[in-house]
Order: sequence, then C-alpha cells, then structure tokens
Amino acid sequence: MSLLTADNLCLAFGPRTILQGAGFMVAAGERVGVIGPNGSGKSTLFRIIAGRQPLDDGRLHFARGLSLGYLPQDILEFGDGPLLATTLAAVPGKSDLEDRLRQAEDELHDCEDHDRQMELAQRIADLHLHLDRFEQEFSPYEAERILMGLGFRERDFARPLTEFSGGWKMRAALAGLLFKKPDVLLLDEPTNHLDVPSVEWLDEFLRQFKNAMLLISHDREFLDRQIRRVLSFEVEGLRSYSGDYDEYRRLREAELEVRRAARRNQDAEVRQAEHFIRRFRANASKARQVQSRKKMLEKIDVIAVDHERATMDFRFPPTAHVGKLPVAVHEITQRFGDLQLYDGLSAAVVRGERIALIGRNGAGKTTLLRIMSGELPPTAGRVEYGANVELRYYAQHHSEGLRRERSILDEVWGVNPAMTRTDVRTICGSFLFRGDEVDKPIGVLSGGELARVSLARILVKPGNLLLMDEPTNHLDLFSAEALAEALTSYDGTLVFVSHNKAFINRLATKIWDLENGQLEEFPGNLEEYLHHLKLVQRRPEPRTPAAPDTVKRPAPLANLLPETPAPKAGPRPAAPTVDDAKDDNKARFEERKRLNRERGRIERQLDDAQRQAAAYETKVAGREAEKATLERALSDPEAYADSAKYSRLLRAYQEVQDEIEALTARWTEFQEKTERLQAQLEKLPAPT
Ligand SMILES: Nc1ncnc2c1ncn2[C@@H]1O[C@H](COP(=O)(O)OP(=O)(O)OP(=O)(O)O)[C@@H](O)[C@H]1O
Ligand SMILES: [Mg+2]
Repeated sequence: MSLLTADNLCLAFGPRTILQGAGFMVAAGERVGVIGPNGSGKSTLFRIIAGRQPLDDGRLHFARGLSLGYLPQDILEFGDGPLLATTLAAVPGKSDLEDRLRQAEDELHDCEDHDRQMELAQRIADLHLHLDRFEQEFSPYEAERILMGLGFRERDFARPLTEFSGGWKMRAALAGLLFKKPDVLLLDEPTNHLDVPSVEWLDEFLRQFKNAMLLISHDREFLDRQIRRVLSFEVEGLRSYSGDYDEYRRLREAELEVRRAARRNQDAEVRQAEHFIRRFRANASKARQVQSRKKMLEKIDVIAVDHERATMDFRFPPTAHVGKLPVAVHEITQRFGDLQLYDGLSAAVVRGERIALIGRNGAGKTTLLRIMSGELPPTAGRVEYGANVELRYYAQHHSEGLRRERSILDEVWGVNPAMTRTDVRTICGSFLFRGDEVDKPIGVLSGGELARVSLARILVKPGNLLLMDEPTNHLDLFSAEALAEALTSYDGTLVFVSHNKAFINRLATKIWDLENGQLEEFPGNLEEYLHHLKLVQRRPEPRTPAAPDTVKRPAPLANLLPETPAPKAGPRPAAPTVDDAKDDNKARFEERKRLNRERGRIERQLDDAQRQAAAYETKVAGREAEKATLERALSDPEAYADSAKYSRLLRAYQEVQDEIEALTARWTEFQEKTERLQAQLEKLPAPT
C-alpha cells in the first residue's frame, strides 16, 4: 500500500529548476535515502512533503490519516517548555487515538469501495493495537530512554528548552519525533547534531523502527545502513533506484558510462556539422545542407552527463606575523553544574600548527574551542594570546549568527566593510555564489550554502589564528575536499574539531586527543596517531607487575584501530642435510629423468594455460560486442522514454559489464600463469 504518492512535481526558484515533472511513491515501511549535491533540492523536497513549500505544479497524495514526522535541517523556532514534557507532548494523547478510531469506524460503516474498506479495516486494527499498547509505547519511560540515547542526562529533563544550545535543541526535536513514531519519518541530516555514541544509538533505534522513512545524510556509512532505496537528484531530474547506496552507485556508474558514450557521439556529430558549416559556408551549391546543419545545431539538446561539479575555489591570503604561541590555556577548569570537563588543563598551540582536536563527544572539544576563542570564560584558569593574534572562530552552529532577511552579499560584506563591493563579490563567487545569487536572502539557503556563507565571512577577514568546529558538516564531498585544499595553503595557525577522518588526515600536523579531561598530544596526522596507538597496544606487557608504561586507550578510540593479524608463527627451517650419494652416474641419470619429467609437466601446464587464455580472450571479445550493442540501444532516446525497457537494458548492460570484468580477470590470470610457466621452463637446464 502506498502511503505517499508524488505526481508530476514541478518547482523552480527563479531561473533555478528544482523539480521538473518528478514522481515517486513511498510504501509502508520503505526506507528511502534522498541524495544529491549541496543545493540540489533535497531539503526542499522534504519541505514540499511536509506541506511547507508550495509547488508550481503537480500534486502529492497521502494515505488517509497518515501521520508524518519531519526533522528539518535547521530549526529556527523551538518551544520553551521543559524538555521531557515537550517530548511527551509530541504524541497526541489517548483521547485523540480514540477519536481517530471512532472516525475510522464511522467511515467504514458508510463505505462501499472494497479497497477502501480493506484499508479502513487495517487502520482500525492498527488503532486498536495502538490503544492497547499506548501506555507501554508512549510511556514517560520510553521518552526518557530516547532522550538519554540522544545524550541528555536525567537532570536535563526539567530544564526549559530555551536553556539549551542550538545543537541540543535539534536533539530535543529529534527525540520528540522518534517518540511519536509517525507512519512516515522525514529526517534531514539528523547526524549533523549528534556525537559518535548518539549516532550509534540512533542507527540502532532506526533499524528497529518499522515505519517508512526518508533520510537525507551526507554520512554515507550511516545512510547505507538505513536505506533500501534511493531517490536521487540527478542532472536529468529526480530518479529512483532500488537497493542501497552501493547498489545505486553501481547502477549510476553504468548509466553514466552510457551517457558519456552518448555524449561523445553527440560531440562528434556537432564537430562534424561545425566543420561542414565552416568549410562550405561560402559555397552556394551547399547552402541548403549548411542551413540544415545550422538548424540541427540550434535544436540539439546537449546530453548532460553529470552535475557540473563547480567547486569552491579560494585561497587564504598571507597572514600577519604572530608570536610563537598564538594561544595557550593555563590550568583551566571547566564545570557545568556538577559536570566537570577538565581540572587544571594546560596546552599551547605553536605558530603554524594545524591541530585536530579529537575524542569522544561530551569530552569537551567544542567547549575547549569556545574557551580558546574567548567566547566562554573558563570556570578557573586563563587563556593567553600571543602578540599580534587575530582570531577567527567558525562555530559548529555558525549559521545561528546570520540574519535571515539580509542578503548573502550584505552578510559577507558586513564582516569587513572596508572591502570594495567588487572584491566581496569576487569572494562570494569563489564560494559559488555567482551573479544575482549574492542577493538571495539567507533565510532560503540550503545547509551547504549556509556553510559556504560562513566560510566566505571568514575569508574576507581571515586572521592568523583560526578555530573551526566541525567545518565539513553540511558540505558535500566535493566542497569538503575544496575546503581541505584551501586550508592546506593557510599560513596561519589552525585548531579544528572534526569527525571526518579523511579531512583530518589531509590537514592535521598534530593531534590533540581529549579524554577524561586530559589532552594527549601527538605530532602527525590521524592515521599516524592510530598507528602509534596500535603499536603502544601491541607492546608486550611487562612481566613484573609494574606501572604500565603505555597509555591506556579508551574504548571508542581503540575501536578506530585497524585490525592487526596476529603475527604468524613461521615453520622452523629444517636442519640442512648432506647428500651422500655414492653412485655419481646413477645420480646424474636420476636427475636427468627428474628434469625431463619436470619439463613435461610444465609444458603440459603451459599448453593448458595458453589454451585457457585464448578461450577467455574470445569470450571477452564476444561480450564487448554485446556491450557495444547495448550501449547503442541505451543511447537511443526512445529507450529512455520507456522506463521499464530502459531499466531492463541497463541491468543487462551492468551484467555484461560485470561479466567482462570477471572474464578479463580470468584471462589475466591465465596470461600471468603462462608467463610464469615460460619463465620456469627457461630456467631448467637444456634437455639432454
Ligand atoms: N524559497 C526559496 N527561494 C529561493 N531559492 C530557494 C528557496 N528555497 C530554496 N531555495 C534554493 O533552492 C536550492 C535547493 O535548496 P535545498 O535546501 O533543497 O538544497 P539541499 O539539496 O537540501 O542542499 P544541502 O545539501 O546544501 O542541504 C538552493 O539553491 C536554495 O538556495
Ligand atoms: Mg538540505
């Protein structure tokens, strides 16, 4: 049964088309990942489904009585009630369920349509079940369990939401949704606000959740574990693929290969036509043909292969010279109520370092960054800045400080009014806001776009000490890479918190591992650090019960360590034996016989390997021909129009491709075997 049907959805924001005739269905219990680059329209699609964004055309149909739960990417308004009470209020009370049951029974009484009767009967059964389970399912205990899973503590339950930071408010909203157990759950980047243990908890919770879910997440591993279908914003429109993300990748790669081939053919046609036009432009007898080619070129619908990967491209200008230690913390203690994060922690940042601050969440990484930025005065201890420091702080919830009604240009320019409009526009351009786009109000921007605005604000006044908290959150893969690239050229000093392993490895010159209020320093990147931890762990235990000289690793980091196979115990070398053959002649004869047998054996094997290699080569050629035929069929626009036929062809194409790969691997194997055997033959003494 379909819970949700979208038909011919169309929406454009000015010149930017988001949806053009998109359609899809979501069945009960389906798990759908919604993917696409920054700004492609994922969050907009969720807003449409949640009824918060009107369409230009098309419609959505919902199963009657459907309950929907929606977690937006950024929530701007929250309630102000106490945490636990707000979570409990997410679920309509028992009387509401009884009302819904009565409504369904009344409708069934008057209903004549068989399908609808079935639907209603099911609904009534569900509601009865719900009512039976109400106390159990929606008990305050369950709400507490969810809140604790998302990282809250018992003493938070009675605190009003207004006391929590942006990230914790998002968690509270998520808790309410999970508690409500809607028929369809829409989650827009839920993991951005969570730490590692909470992500793990959510992962497990969602896997137990049996209702339908649409999920947007840039965290590929999380996405892959949750979904069985993909809705994807592709260059040709919204597409649907069954299977998980890996399966999507395989199918899409095959499709892209076909599109690339079709595009190559099209380009060749265009080149030929242009050549013809140039050559015969002045030739009166060819005027008609020239004209018809010109028409063809005008009408041609260029086959777009993939999203144009415009990437951010910016460099930090050289920064002003700063003292040897741009920032240091001395004996700092930080307490929040009865929670103590550090007690007498001291650390210094040396000029030019790029430090990755890692560690379990809740360890106090963000807090340490806030203390170093001067935003949060520590409970005790002091922060010292080097001479001439200009500090910039990129907070985890950086967009909180942006004003929704102002334009991108104004928000960027406001940071450094001394710059000229042209210079500010150039900087906005390098963060991919081109032309009129700089006039867009902040309020409409996508998560990735907001992150780019905050980064642009840093670049117009970069400073020589940069503190960044989760800078790759909200950025798609390409933007995250571009940011890492730009930061490698930054000549100032950088301290950053990140969960993104690739990003840390690329940038860090030093690791600060924060655990139990202590900082462990390690010069190098994350991989080197993890390797170091592994070595430390493998170091043999001292025989006498002395104090361990190794650092004890907490479980979460230990889990990051790559597996190391236990060293294999090799066979002991056999003691050399002496051949004391008495009859030399007999020995030579035996040796010759053995060599001849050996040669015969190798020759037979060689012959076989050569035959096998030839057979596989023929098979590969056969499949290559099939592949070419399928490629032609797939690039035919008619095939594309018939989606059933198209997916049949595509699967066949994918299969042939896989077969070619497998056959080629076998061919290579026999080819290598042939070479190996030939080499062995050459090594044998000439036959006698
Ligand atoms: N009301 C609006 N008016 C004008 N443009 C809008 C409006 N709402 C969204 N947009 C634009 O539509 C595009 C798609 O936005 P959306 O938030 O759906 O992207 P997204 O795929 O969720 O991206 P991200 O991965 O960055 O979160 C963006 O360029 C955004 O600026
Ligand atoms: Mg979004």
